[in-house]
Amino acid sequence: MPTQKSILVTGCAGFIGANFVREFKKRYPKTKIVGIDNFSTGRRDALDKTITFYRGSICNRKLLEKIFLRHRLTYVFHFAALPQVSYSVENPAETTEVNVFGTVLLLEMARDNKVKRFIHSSSSAVYGDAKELPTKEGNELLHPRSPYGLQKYTDEPFLKMFSDLYGLDSVALRYFNVFGPGQYGGSAYATVICNWLEGLYFRHKGKPFLESDGKQSRDFCYVKNVVDANIKAMKVKGSLRGETINIGHGKRTTLLEVRKLIEQYTEKKLSLERRPTRLGDVRHTHADISKARRLLGYRPLIDFETGLRETVEWFEERAK
Ligand SMILES: NC(=O)c1ccc[n+]([C@@H]2O[C@H](COP(=O)([O-])OP(=O)(O)OC[C@H]3O[C@@H](n4cnc5c(N)ncnc54)[C@H](O)[C@@H]3O)[C@@H](O)[C@H]2O)c1
Repeated sequence: MPTQKSILVTGCAGFIGANFVREFKKRYPKTKIVGIDNFSTGRRDALDKTITFYRGSICNRKLLEKIFLRHRLTYVFHFAALPQVSYSVENPAETTEVNVFGTVLLLEMARDNKVKRFIHSSSSAVYGDAKELPTKEGNELLHPRSPYGLQKYTDEPFLKMFSDLYGLDSVALRYFNVFGPGQYGGSAYATVICNWLEGLYFRHKGKPFLESDGKQSRDFCYVKNVVDANIKAMKVKGSLRGETINIGHGKRTTLLEVRKLIEQYTEKKLSLERRPTRLGDVRHTHADISKARRLLGYRPLIDFETGLRETVEWFEERAK
């Protein structure tokens, strides 16, 4: 029977997962980190070599049984997913297997192995076109616009049900438009910020583009804030019972404003190819983060402008 306390990080080679591992190690150097990833969208160079790593899928029951048996896992941080909206539109069955079946299988393992809390990565994609801005979590039926959004939406009542039926504590964090170092322009879920910076610093990768008039806006959330929200969700005393909680910056920025700031910070001209609005794209996202403040004590540690500067610095380093 293993004795050392460990946490499980699924998707540890992905953008948010790798940022999470780096910060968690700093804050809890004595806790063992166990990671799983199959590199479907993750990167080998993002993987922290000091953690105990299992290469494989979260849909592989035998592998999960082995991991849960070998380690005394107290918390599960579930980042693994196939997160590309357009990929989910083309491949609804494959993405449902990973994004729904994979989550439920992990919940089962967490239930059977007495995990203290399951911290799940949900998404603002569950809202589709939100009726109200800033958007509150609410109880009304939502209408996601993609299989990905529906899959994340489906996971949430599973969390609640596992809490009600088996007493497995959990929380679903609905992230809004995450950006920051470690997000590559061409990668699965890249925001315009990373796509534009990739185009600006690595011109051979194609010309950056702007869809629609640029007046659409996003609640861009810096990755360090998302990581901090996960750690806060672990530390909450009492039970969270499958609550769904928005994690954003709580402020929205138009794409034209982002462009201006990028030109200012990089001292480069960002010329963008104009393209028509993409079908199904939402016009604005804006998180109401009062529930996160109340239940987790969350507030964005780093504001949008500082996060953007740090992201620019990371691209500059890569381009050297
Ligand atoms: N980045 C965002 O803006 C954003 C917004 C909302 C929600 N999310 C959610 O946050 C989580 C992390 O997103 P990200 O941006 O880091 O994406 P990412 O693609 O960089 O990371 C996902 C990781 O999961 C791994 N993975 C995929 N399928 C797997 C499987 N079957 N078994 C094991 N590992 C598997 C990938 O290889 C990758 O390393 C995801 O659940 C995503 O849906 C992200």
